[in-house]
This record gives sequence, C-alpha cells and structure tokens, in this order.
Amino acid sequence: ADNGPTLNTTQFQTLVSNQMPAIAKTVENEEGLGQVLQQMEVQDGQNISFENFWNLINKQAGQLFSTSHKEKGIKCHCLLQ
Ligand SMILES: *[C@@H]1O[C@H](CO)[C@@H](O)[C@H](O)[C@H]1NC(C)=O
Ligand SMILES: *[C@@H]1O[C@H](CO)[C@@H](O)[C@H](O)[C@H]1NC(C)=O
Repeated sequence: ADNGPTLNTTQFQTLVSNQMPAIAKTVENEEGLGQVLQQMEVQDGQNISFENFWNLINKQAGQLFSTSHKEKGIKCHCLLQ
C-alpha cells in the first residue's frame, strides 16, 4: 500500500483481511499467523516479499486443488490476472 517492496506482518494481516477472507481467519491470532508465515517461508523478524506471498498462493491453491480434485466433475479454470 505504501509502495515498499515488502510488507511487514501488520501490513500483511491487513492485506489478507481485505483481500483473502478465508486466510484472514487463520492469521487473526499469533499461532495462525506463525503457521502462515512458515508456509510462506518467511524467517523470524523478516518482512514479507512478493515471493513469500506467492509461496502462500501456490500452497493454498495446491490445497484447494487437491481437495476439489477428488470430487468428480470439477474442472480447473485457473486464471491469474
Ligand atoms: C519491513 O517493512 C517496513 C515497512 O514497510 C520497513 O519500514 C522496514 O524497514 C522493513 N524491514 C526489513 C527488515 O526489511
Ligand atoms: C508496519 O508498517 C506500517 C506502515 O508502514 C507501520 O505503521 C507499522 O508500525 C509497521 N508495523 C511493524 C510491526 O513494523
């Protein structure tokens, strides 16, 4: 939001709660936030880069896909813009 290349965890929480309500529930508390940061491979005390964020998207998408994959008839219309 302030044009920096990285986000601190507070900025990340704000972004997620605005844009990704499903993940927002998880990062509301310290434990959930820690898990998500770990998924993104963010080191302790580090800011979150776009690359970290992308790790999260990939992992979340992977989970979504492996869940819906098991239900027949669901096709993936993945479109990133
Ligand atoms: C983390 O981000 C904040 C705000 O964008 C910035 O002020 C700070 O210098 C950054 N810290 C590191 C370790 O990159
Ligand atoms: C994160 O960045 C925001 C905006 O730059 C700043 O207001 C906030 O104090 C920072 N929080 C931390 C934990 O560094």
